[in-house]
Amino acid sequence: MAATYEQISAYHAFLSQHDDPVLKRMEVEAARDRFPIIGPAAGKFCYLMARATGARRIFELGSGYGYSTLWFARAVRENGGGVVHHTVWDEELSRRARANVGEAGYEDLVQFHVAEAVQTLMDAEGPFDIIFNDIDKDGYPASLPVMKEKLRVGGLILIDNMIWHGAIFDPSDQTPATQGVREFTHRLMADTDFLFQLIPVRDGIIAALRVA
Ligand code: DHB
Ligand code: MG
Repeated sequence: MAATYEQISAYHAFLSQHDDPVLKRMEVEAARDRFPIIGPAAGKFCYLMARATGARRIFELGSGYGYSTLWFARAVRENGGGVVHHTVWDEELSRRARANVGEAGYEDLVQFHVAEAVQTLMDAEGPFDIIFNDIDKDGYPASLPVMKEKLRVGGLILIDNMIWHGAIFDPSDQTPATQGVREFTHRLMADTDFLFQLIPVRDGIIAALRVA
């Protein structure tokens, strides 16, 4: 019997159950607002990557309510402390993220930037252990050299929406967002300084390890 995508997604969700009240409230709010947070399965995967690599310096390139930020902040604290950078253009989103991060008790670990994300990474002092990328998808290809410069050798890029709701499989879809996701993947394939794989959780996260 072949499993359906829905069955696999439901199983991912089942295996991602947690009892963090702030994350839970954010999941409810995001569903209500139709705001595309990464959700518990991808969030827990990011947390696991951060724990596994002992990450203490994490940069989020494009953030939202602070949902992924909180998963990373938890890992950084458990790894001994450090910093998670939250970057977003929108002041209201940044304000909500500050409130969420504060309520969860991680304000000491998170630095908030209200600015263009790639420029903020360019200006940040590296290197980082993990860079999580969730900016507008048409900006993905141009962000790769900046992430590479700011990532330590042995560090990880985690990048969201690499399936883009299946749009990448539709050749008639030539929109800038879909092209951005495709082109980023091609550039990563061409760069032998990275080892990577697509993790089929939610909308697909690529994990790319900088090996040189
Ligand atoms: C959507 C989902 C995302 O994870 C994102 O970063 C941007 C948009 C969406 O579902 O439209
Ligand atoms: Mg996303």
